[in-house]
Amino acid sequence: MLLHIPGILDTAQVTQLRTALDAAAWVDGRETVGSQGAPVKRNQQLTDVSPLREALGRIVLAALAKNPLYHAATLPLRTLPPRFNRYEGGGAYGMHVDGSVMALPNGEQLRSDISCTLFLVEPEDYDGGELIVSDTYGEHEVKLPAGDAIIYPASSLHRVQPVTRGARLAAFFWVQSLIRDDNRRRLLFELDTSIQQLVTTGADHDAVLQLTGIYHNLLRQWAES
Ligand code: NI
Repeated sequence: MLLHIPGILDTAQVTQLRTALDAAAWVDGRETVGSQGAPVKRNQQLTDVSPLREALGRIVLAALAKNPLYHAATLPLRTLPPRFNRYEGGGAYGMHVDGSVMALPNGEQLRSDISCTLFLVEPEDYDGGELIVSDTYGEHEVKLPAGDAIIYPASSLHRVQPVTRGARLAAFFWVQSLIRDDNRRRLLFELDTSIQQLVTTGADHDAVLQLTGIYHNLLRQWAES
C-alpha cells in the first residue's frame, strides 16, 4: 500500500528541523548502504552517530506517535530511528531495494516491512527529487509538501530522481509492522477507515460495535511480535 500521510509535522516543526539541518555536518550517503546500492547512491546524510540525528529523529517519532492515520496504516511494532538526507547539484539515488533486516540501536533487529519518507522542503523550492516507487501496478511518482510523508512496502524497487535546482531534504526510516503481510495490513486499514466513517456519520451503534470487534479479532489473529 502506497499512502500519502499529510501534516505529520506542522510549519513550526518543519522550520525547526530545516534550521538545524541547514547548519549540520553532512557526509556521503554511501556510509549506510551495501555494495549493491553504493554505485547508484549520490546524496548526503547525517551520520548514524550524530547527536543531531538522534535529537531530530526524536521530534519525528513524537509527531508520528500523535498521528492516527499513520498509526492505522502502519500498525508499528518497531521503528528504526529516522535518518536524514540531502540531495542537491544533480544528486540522485538510482533504482534499488532496501535491506530486509536492520540493526536497532538496542541490539535487536528490525524486519523492514514499510519504508517511510518524510519531506522537509516545499516541492516548488527544488526541481527533480521525485521518489519513484515501482510495484505491480507500474511506477508511482511522489513529491509531497513539507511535513507530509509517504509510506510504501519496503519490498518495492524505488529510486530518487536527480535534483537539478535547490535542495531536497527528507527524513526516512523503516517500520516493522505487527502485520507483516501488506495485503492484510491494507484490509485492516480499510476496515478501520470504514468504521471511523460509520462513527462520524452516526451509523447504528450496535453494528459499529460488531465491526469494531471484527477489526480487533482480525488484528489479534494476524498480529505477530
Ligand atoms: Ni531506498
